[in-house]
Parts: sequence; C-alpha cells; structure tokens
Amino acid sequence: MKEIYLDYNATTPLRAEVRSALIEDFPIYGNASSMHAAGREAKNRVEEARNRVGELLGVPAKTVIFTSGGSESNNTVFSTMRRLASDSRGAPLSQGRRGLITTTIEHPCVLNSAKYLESLGYQVNFIPVDKDGKLVTAELKKVLNEETLFVSVMMANNEIGTVQDIKEIAGMVKAAGAWMHTDAVQAVGKIPLDAADLGVDYLTMSAHKIYGPKGTGALYVREHAPAYPLIHGGHQEDGMRAGTYNNIGILGLGKAAELAKRDLEHYGREMGALRKRLKDALETAVPNIKINGHPEDVLPNTLNVSFPGAEGEAILLSLDLAGIEVSTGSACASGSLEPSHVLLAIGAGPELAHGSIRFSLGLGISEADIDYVAAAVPPIIKRLRSMSTLV
Ligand SMILES: Cc1ncc(COP(=O)(O)O)c(C=O)c1O
Repeated sequence: MKEIYLDYNATTPLRAEVRSALIEDFPIYGNASSMHAAGREAKNRVEEARNRVGELLGVPAKTVIFTSGGSESNNTVFSTMRRLASDSRGAPLSQGRRGLITTTIEHPCVLNSAKYLESLGYQVNFIPVDKDGKLVTAELKKVLNEETLFVSVMMANNEIGTVQDIKEIAGMVKAAGAWMHTDAVQAVGKIPLDAADLGVDYLTMSAHKIYGPKGTGALYVREHAPAYPLIHGGHQEDGMRAGTYNNIGILGLGKAAELAKRDLEHYGREMGALRKRLKDALETAVPNIKINGHPEDVLPNTLNVSFPGAEGEAILLSLDLAGIEVSTGSACASGSLEPSHVLLAIGAGPELAHGSIRFSLGLGISEADIDYVAAAVPPIIKRLRSMSTLV
C-alpha cells in the first residue's frame, strides 16, 4: 500500500543529506567543554552549527542558544519573564512592568507556560484572533501599556498555518517598552524570516520541523535582552543552558539549517503549488467544505479543511487505512477529544472544529501523491456524511 505522509507540521523525517551528515558525524564524541583535541573538535563543530543557525535566522551566531527544542526555548523565555516580573522573594510584582500578553492560538507549550504563570498570580492577557487567525491589533493596543513586560505571539500557527505580521506587532511592543518573543517553530525554513529585521528580542525554533533530528532546537536572544537559564548546572552556552552538548543533535540542526536556507525559495514555490493543487481538487470534488486560516498569509505547506457532517477522527482513521497520514489538529492535542483550541478561537463551532483535517505537506511529496489524496478524500467524506447524525 502507498504511504503518503502529510503531517510535516507534527514532525519531519530526516532529510537524506542530514542523515548522511549525521552518520559521518556520529563518531564526534568529545565533550565540547573539554580542552583536549576531542573536545576542541566537538566545540568547533558545534560552533559551525551555531553559525549555520545564525545565518538561517539572520542573526549573529553568538545570539543563538542551543536547547532541546521549541518547548524548552519557549519555556526559557517565560521563566526569564517570570523572574523579571517577580520581587526578590519570587512573588509577582505589585507594580511596574509585570504584565504578560499572548494569544489564544499559541502552541500548548506557550499557552500552558502562560497559564502556569497566571496560576501563580502573574498578570496574563490572552488576546483574540480574527476569523482567519490573525491577531487583532486593536485588542493588543487595548492591553499594551507601561505595565506590560512581555508579549509572545507565534509567527505561524501549526494548525491553520496563518502567518502573523510579527514586524508590525514587534514595532508596537517595542514602542511600548516591552520585550517581544515569537515562537517561529513553524515559520523557520518555510517562509523568509530575518529575526533581526523582525525586531523581536527572542525567537524560538526547532530542528525536527526542518528535517533535522528531534530533541534539539535553538533560542535567539537579541544582544542585551535579559535571559536566565531554565536548566541550571555547568557553564555551557555562557551559563544560559547547562548540560553536556548534544553533539549529534546540534550538528544535525546545523546541517538542516544550512539546507533550509539554501532551499527556502524553492520550498516556498513547490509547497505553494502542491497546496493549491490539493485545495483546488478538494474544493471541486467535495461539496460544502471550509478552508481554515488566512487566504494569503498562510504557510505554503499547510492546508486545514473543515468537512461539516464528518467527524475528524473518523476521517483521519479512514485516510490512514488508505495509507494517508494527516492530523486533526496539533499532534499534542490529538488523543484528546477536545476540539482544537485554534479552530474554536477563529470562530468555528464545535462541529466544524471536530470535523477538520490538517494536511501539512513537505519535501518528497509529488503531484501524483497529491492527486492520490485528492481522489481518496471525497468518497470517505461522502460515506461518513451519509452515516452521520450531524447533517
Ligand atoms: C508552533 C510550535 N511551537 C512549539 C512546538 C514545540 O517544539 P518541540 O517539539 O521542538 O518542543 C511546536 C511543535 O509542534 C510547534 O508547532
């Protein structure tokens, strides 16, 4: 049976070039903090990888901190902000800059970090998005003031692919004197991105979304922006992230970053054309569907579709039987029967939110694969709708 993996926003396979580089690099065992030759070799290679990540993000290499991935990078920023918004005993400040702002459609690792701080008494605002998933800037203006310490807005949404105007948002946030973070895990390697030009203070990325290994990622911290370690211990990463260097993960991230930069333009064009092919085919063949996300400002690889009258999990399992792997929401949310918080936030009722499928495309997918998927979906939806009590 065919296997067509269309869940690249959940994770990507290693690219062949990354895999070969890793196999070659596997013997690099030295502790990058050691002063002898094996340590120096590891350190040199880690620094090369840092250069590659800096080049991909458009920032100096020294502003890149290696972490275990997107979740850790985001948590590092939130814990830094907690420290800044605390008095000397760790309690929330009663005045001054202590407000945190984020959106309702963030990835759970941001949402739950924000909710955790809220539960400890910190002031947190969750601002809404519009029907296309764009942050409502009027709402941001309403809550952004001299008490705001920090704003965190994801660059691209993992479920619907909507891309935010981060440069404009960062401009507003910086004008208000607050710190600006963007979770760019889904944007890096998919759309042009220059962290310095965006004007953000912090930016998060993850290797396994750009065809690198899992369990590794990076955090950009703009020079002079405050940052405190989440993991305390040795002096690695200038004391910002303790733990012996994950040589193989970091080298894989470096290679993936190099290739992502090289292929960015081609990736955008190719994914955009495949996405359009799938979207057009589904719109033609399946009546009454709704494409979720912004019509233009959307990741070129992400197509989120609601099929009213059919249940998302049932569609997913039927497609899986046909060898097609998709998602009903973020991977972290699947397994729960809760409707997607992102779809609810853009105003989809529970029925639409339960009946949505995310097709996320990636390297290696061909037009023939898309045509196979486009042919497989209509009969599945027809069958599920005919059995449904929802329509
Ligand atoms: C937008 C976004 N942020 C953060 C993460 C978490 O990244 P990681 O899996 O590297 O911890 C993900 C992964 O799904 C994501 O899509």
